[in-house]
Amino acid sequence: MSETIYQGLAGVNVDTTQISHIDGLKGELIYRGYDIRELANKASFEEVTYLLWNDDLPTQDQLAEFKNGLKPHYILPQEVIEVLKLMPKDTHPMHAVRTAVSMLGATDSAAEGVDLDNVHRIGLSLTAKFPSIVATFERLRNGQEAISPDPDLSIAGNFLYMLTGEKPTEAATNVMDVALVLHAEHGSNASTFVARAVASTLTDVYSSITAACGSLKGPLHGGANAAVMQALEKIGSVSKVEDYVMNILGTPGGRVMGFGHRVYRVLDPRAIILKEVSHHLAEESGDSKWFEMSLEMERVMDREMTKKGKEIKPNVDFFSASVYRMLGFPTDMYTPIFAVARISGWMAHLYEQYADNKLMRPRMVYEGPLGKSFKAINNR
Ligand code: CMC
Repeated sequence: MSETIYQGLAGVNVDTTQISHIDGLKGELIYRGYDIRELANKASFEEVTYLLWNDDLPTQDQLAEFKNGLKPHYILPQEVIEVLKLMPKDTHPMHAVRTAVSMLGATDSAAEGVDLDNVHRIGLSLTAKFPSIVATFERLRNGQEAISPDPDLSIAGNFLYMLTGEKPTEAATNVMDVALVLHAEHGSNASTFVARAVASTLTDVYSSITAACGSLKGPLHGGANAAVMQALEKIGSVSKVEDYVMNILGTPGGRVMGFGHRVYRVLDPRAIILKEVSHHLAEESGDSKWFEMSLEMERVMDREMTKKGKEIKPNVDFFSASVYRMLGFPTDMYTPIFAVARISGWMAHLYEQYADNKLMRPRMVYEGPLGKSFKAINNR
């Protein structure tokens, strides 16, 4: 009997969720009923994190309480700082993030509990600590002293502050905040699915989030933003974009990074917003090279994909690359920044998973041989 195979779990519904909804045909992303386009313009990352973890947006009092709850968690335990100091300076910063999360688990004497109160405590802690981990590793690998967090700043502002030691401008903080809101949550993407699959064994939150970090790092997922910038750097100028794209498309299995999506068949709504942000930053900074190269890549891909009848459009990682470049971040920090945002979505999903758990245990169709007889090792 032939069995249906859903390679890559494409099109498989593993559970229900209240957290977010993607309409891949309309190009809509909804967080608990609210359109991402509205949230990106009007809500802070803290408000959105509260929304993802609760039923609705916070009142002013609820938001103040939520921010107060984050404050004691910004500072990293000394053991984590020591581990970050031990990491090779040229290691990928996602190794540092993943290892730091694992170390946080080792230093938390209450790591094991998966009751919702404990999961919520760890969620607050990780949301506050992710920016501290990324900024601290960035400074340490450059031979600089780590900067203590300023808990009076927003998560976006504190991240920028911990990188440089200077209070960030309102404009830079706002751009960072929009990027965090846009990357916060995206349904059953690979890393969120991994987090839920690990949590479904009823292991601890740190184990789930460590695994999610490993998944996010891959170039087909969160690693694509860095891959986009590496491509733009390699190309070097607008006039060389077309040859680069045609060369990749002419290579069997070639993928132009930052394009395509498992769910969207039209433009990713997050890409539309980030394109506007990238355009704005290019005009403000007078450094339009990265934006113009991105536009040219989009134009060539659109033309070629239309010819092939494929709906392959820019995704969230495409314009975030030029945005992060213009904000001055090193390329290998782009995916860790994605993690700073996505921890809020991962945690929202862990609340759902632990609250109504079923062990994830799909099957595979065996196609190997049967009936072989065993030979002792000296007879093989
Ligand atoms: N460049 C060129 N061709 C592409 C691309 C691309 N970026 N993406 C898909 N295609 C083609 C693919 O070659 C295939 O062609 P054919 O049917 O002739 O074999 C067709 O489109 C369908 O591709 P698929 O592999 O079935 O699509 P998928 O749903 O498995 O892949 C994807 C989705 C995101 C892995 C893929 O589009 C890709 O590799 N994109 C580049 C990496 C990237 O930007 N990843 C970020 C994804 S969004 C944010 C996130 O999750 O972090």
